[in-house]
Amino acid sequence: MTNNAQWSSRLGFILASAGSAIGLGAIWKFPFWAGANGGGAFIIPYILFTFTIGLCLVMAEVSIGRRGRGSVVSAMRRVGGPWFGLLGALAVLTAYIILSYYSVVGGWCVSYLWDAIRGSVATSDPEVLKANFGALVTNGTENVAWHLAFLSLTCGTVVLGVESGIERVSKYLMPTLFVLMVAIIVRSLTLDNAWEGVKYLFHFDLDSINSKAILNAMGFTFFSLSLGAGILVTYGSYLSDKTNIPNASVWVAALAIQAALLAGLMIMPAVFAFGLEPNGGPGLVFVTVPLVFSKVPFGAFFALLFYICLLVAALTSAVSLLEVVTAFLQNEWHLSRRTAVLLNWVTLFLLGAVSALSFGPWSGFTIFGMTFFDLLDFICTNFLMPLGGMSIAVLAGWLAWPKIREQLTSVKSYSPALLTLIRIMIAVLAPVLVAVALLQGIMG
Ligand code: PHE
Repeated sequence: MTNNAQWSSRLGFILASAGSAIGLGAIWKFPFWAGANGGGAFIIPYILFTFTIGLCLVMAEVSIGRRGRGSVVSAMRRVGGPWFGLLGALAVLTAYIILSYYSVVGGWCVSYLWDAIRGSVATSDPEVLKANFGALVTNGTENVAWHLAFLSLTCGTVVLGVESGIERVSKYLMPTLFVLMVAIIVRSLTLDNAWEGVKYLFHFDLDSINSKAILNAMGFTFFSLSLGAGILVTYGSYLSDKTNIPNASVWVAALAIQAALLAGLMIMPAVFAFGLEPNGGPGLVFVTVPLVFSKVPFGAFFALLFYICLLVAALTSAVSLLEVVTAFLQNEWHLSRRTAVLLNWVTLFLLGAVSALSFGPWSGFTIFGMTFFDLLDFICTNFLMPLGGMSIAVLAGWLAWPKIREQLTSVKSYSPALLTLIRIMIAVLAPVLVAVALLQGIMG
C-alpha cells in the first residue's frame, strides 16, 4: 500500500524533521555531554559530522522515503528488495523501543512544567532539588502517571494525521521554541561571569581531542539527527516531488545544530555564573537549571519558559517516533490510523511503565548490570541505531545509488564531483565510522 498523505509545504517538512531532530538530545543531553567531553573537543567534531556524514545520511533516508513512498518497511523493500524490508522492520522496532523510554523522560518534562506552572520549581537549595528529582523518578506511581500523560499527548498529535496533526503542531511549536530559547539566552548571557560559560563551550585545545570524545560526538550526531530509526524515511515518504532534497536536508541539519548550540548557550553561561559544575550529568536540566532560576530575577517565569521549551522539543521528537510505527501499522497491517495509534498507546504505555518503574520499585532488577531503562537506551543507541544507519548507507550508497541520485537531482542538477563526494560519504565513510562505533559499543 502506498501513502497518500503529504506535507502541505516544504516548510512543513523541514519543521517537522527539525522537530524530530531537536529533542531531549539537543536540550537535555547536549549540554552535559559537551560538558563531560571537554566543550569544543566534542562540539567541533559534532558539527563536522553533522555537516558531512550526518547530512548525507539525512539525504539518503529522505530519498529512500520519497522514492519508496510508504512506511520504512515498504519503502526500503521497494527500493532494495525483501531483505531491506526486514531491515526496515528493525528500524520500526528501534523507533518503538526508543519511544517507550523516551516517553518516561518526556513525563519528567511534563511534571517539571506542571511544577513550574505552580511556581514551585525554583528552590535555591541544591540538596532539596536533588531530593525532588530523586523523589519523582523513584516514585513508581508518579513516574508511570507522568509517562502516561506524555504518551497521551504524543498519541493525540499523531492521531490527527500528518498534515493536521504533526505538521501543524511543528509549525507552531518550533518557532515558539526558538523564541523562548533566545529569551532565556539573553537572560543567561547577561549574568555576571556568563562569558566563562561561552568560552567553556567553544574553547578548543587540540590536547583534549581524543578518540572517545570523537566517537561520542558521532553517536550524538546520529541520535540528534534522528538517524537509523526510519524517521526521515517515513517523513520523506510524505514529501512532494517538487521539493529539492539536498536543500531541505541542509536546513534540517543546520536547524539541529543551531538548537543544540542555543541549548548550550542557554545553560552553560548560567552554570558558570553560579559556580556550578558544567558536567552535572543527566540531572543538569532538572537539578542545576532550577537552581539557576531560583537565583535570577523573574526566575519562576524563566523556569516556566524553559520547561515549555523542553516539553515542546521532546514532544515533536516523540511524535516522529510514533509516526514511524503508525505508518508501518497502516501500510503493512492495514490498520486505520486511529486503531494503529490506540494499539501503540496501550502497548507503549505498558512497555514504558517497566522503564518508569526501573528507577524506583524495580531498580533492583538488572540485566548486565543495567536497569531496564538503561538497557533499552544502551541497545538502541549503541546497536540498533548504528545498524539502521548502516543499512541505509549500504542501500543508498551501493545497491540503489542510481535511484538515490535521481531523487537528489530531480529538482536541480548538481555537479558530478559533488554527487561523487556525497556518495563517498554515504557508501564508504558512514559505514566505516559506524562499524568503528559498533565495535566500540561491543568492546565497551
Ligand atoms: N533526535 C531526537 C532528540 O534529539 C531523538 C530521536 C532519536 C528521535 C531517534 C527520533 C529518532 O531528542
